Amino acid sequence: MEADAASGADGYTLFASVYDQWQQTYGAEYAHLVAPHVDERLAQLLGGPPRNLIDLACGTGTHALRQAKRGVAVTGVDLSQAMLAAARAKAEAAGNPLTLVHADMRSFDLPKSVDAVTCLYASLNHLADPSDLVRTFERVAAHLRPGGAFVFDLNTRAGFEALWREPGTDRGPGLTIDRRYVWDDREPWVVMHLAIERRSGETVERGRSALRARWFEDREVRTALRQAGLLLADCMPFNPFPEVDRPGIKQLWSATRPGAPIRSP
Ligand SMILES: C[S@@+](CC[C@H](N)C(=O)[O-])C[C@H]1O[C@@H](n2cnc3c(N)ncnc32)[C@H](O)[C@@H]1O
Repeated sequence: MEADAASGADGYTLFASVYDQWQQTYGAEYAHLVAPHVDERLAQLLGGPPRNLIDLACGTGTHALRQAKRGVAVTGVDLSQAMLAAARAKAEAAGNPLTLVHADMRSFDLPKSVDAVTCLYASLNHLADPSDLVRTFERVAAHLRPGGAFVFDLNTRAGFEALWREPGTDRGPGLTIDRRYVWDDREPWVVMHLAIERRSGETVERGRSALRARWFEDREVRTALRQAGLLLADCMPFNPFPEVDRPGIKQLWSATRPGAPIRSP
C-alpha cells in the first residue's frame, strides 16, 4: 500500500479500501447515524421525500444506497476514484441502483435538475477556503429545481477539538488504524495522519494516508449560501456520536433554492 498526499480526495485512495470497515469499529456507519436528521429536513423542506437526489462527495455510497433503497433516484459524485470504486462495488451488489460520477464538487456539471442535494460526513470541511464553499454552493444551486433542498453537515471548530485532537487506535477484525493529528494553531486546518494495517490470513498490508480538513465560521457558510443564491432554512447543532460527550461538534445545515416548484402538467 502506498502513502498519499493530504489533499481533499487523494487522502482517500488508500483509506477507501477500509473506510466502511473502519466506521464499523465505532458501531455504525455515519450515514446511518445522520440519516433520521437528513430525512426529517428533506421531508420538511420538500413536503415529502425527494424523487431524485445528488449526493455530493458520496464516498463509498452508504447514504446514496440508503436513499436509493427508499425509491429515490440517486446520483453520487466524488473526486476520489478509489471511493467511487468502493461505491460501485456496493451498488453492483445491490442491483445497480446508483449513477456514479467522477467530478469535483466545486465544478460538477450534470444534465439534470433535482429535488435535493446532500453532502455529508464533513466532506465540505475538505474545501480549502470560503471561495470554494461559494463555488460548490453555486453548483448546487445550478442543479436544484426551484424549491429544491440542500442538506449538508460540517464539523465545527469544537468538533475538530473533540474528534481531531487526541491520537487513537481503532481496531476491527483484520484491521488496525492508528490516528494522529497535526494542528497549526495559526490556521483553521488540521491534518489527520493514518497508519493502516490490514491482515488476511498470513498476509499483512501496511500503508499511510493523510487527510486535511478545516472548519468554517458560521458567517462564512451563511455568506457563501447567500452568494450562491440559496436561502438558509436551518442550522442545527448535533452530535451523532454517543461516545463523545461534547455539544455542538457538528452542524446540520439546510437551504433551499428560492422559487415555487414547477409542476408537470
Ligand atoms: C469523509 S468522506 C465522506 C463520504 C460520504 N459522504 C460518507 O458519508 O461516508 C469525504 C469524501 O469527500 C470526497 N471529496 C473531497 N474533496 C472533494 C471534492 N472537491 N469534490 C468531490 N468530492 C470530494 C472524498 O473523496 C471523500 O469521499
